[in-house]
Amino acid sequence: MTTDLAPILTAITAQLRRRRDRGVLPRYIAPLAAVDPRKFGLAVLEADGRMHLAGDAEEPFSIQSISKVHALTMALETVGSTLWTHVRQEPSGSAFNSITQLESEHGIPRNPFINAGAIVVTDQLITRLGRQQARHDFLAFMRSLTDDGASVRYDEAIARAEYDSGFRNVALANYMRTFGTVQNNTSAVLRQYFHQCALTMTCRQLAESGRFLMTGGRAPSRRGMAIASRTARTVAAVMMTCGHYDGSGSFAVRVGLPGKSGVGGGILAIVPGIASIAVWSPGLNEQGNSLLGTEALELLVEATGWSVL
Ligand code: DON
Repeated sequence: MTTDLAPILTAITAQLRRRRDRGVLPRYIAPLAAVDPRKFGLAVLEADGRMHLAGDAEEPFSIQSISKVHALTMALETVGSTLWTHVRQEPSGSAFNSITQLESEHGIPRNPFINAGAIVVTDQLITRLGRQQARHDFLAFMRSLTDDGASVRYDEAIARAEYDSGFRNVALANYMRTFGTVQNNTSAVLRQYFHQCALTMTCRQLAESGRFLMTGGRAPSRRGMAIASRTARTVAAVMMTCGHYDGSGSFAVRVGLPGKSGVGGGILAIVPGIASIAVWSPGLNEQGNSLLGTEALELLVEATGWSVL
């Protein structure tokens, strides 16, 4: 039996649009603090290719840490499994920007989705590709994953704002450089990392970008690089265990899907073999994950039975 998604998405959107408590905008990245907290978008791409949209699903927003999913994918395909000598695969139980574990753990981050781990992934991409090529290839990769990729772009103002105020990330990169976990010029690594975070995409495009995770790596697009099924499975596993930082356990309990959040208020969630879902609501909960985005996914899996757990 197939579920009729349109009325479900309409009902979820109507319900959450009325909500007063919408979470808190991130203050440490000025352009993100100025986004309208009433925005709400939802896009569901089904395995048969049907796309369902609701609310502000066609409006571009800053994908922030959701880009860590795609950077990890690209690194596994270009650097290979030696990546795992520089970053581990374990949940951190700590905040996304935490520095404390690095001291006792030889400068090796717990996973590629906390900021420290993502900076290492970017460092590895730069080692492999060089600075300019890494900038170019990451954007090309993201465009190849979406159907109208030309509109996917780096928002230079957001990248600059992060560079000007990202003192914690500067500390993480320099600290890891002292252990040799980060090997390239830290300014160059951070510039690329901030550009990745500053990609703007719509919910529709983000859902498309998760197609390879829904299909287990098969045929992400006609233009893009091949993605091994092993890579897709690995990335989805890390999303399940680490995709929401110190909120990963409660996200698994509430939603039960591999998911990745960003401080722009987006979440990408995957129903293996069935759907790729993107939701956007800019206000965040205490762990820096979209408050109403999480609730929307919870309502969606309750209505569809899509939780993998
Ligand atoms: O590096 C940062 O702090 C931001 N560019 C990204 C953090 C983020 O998205 C955390 N996610 N919920």
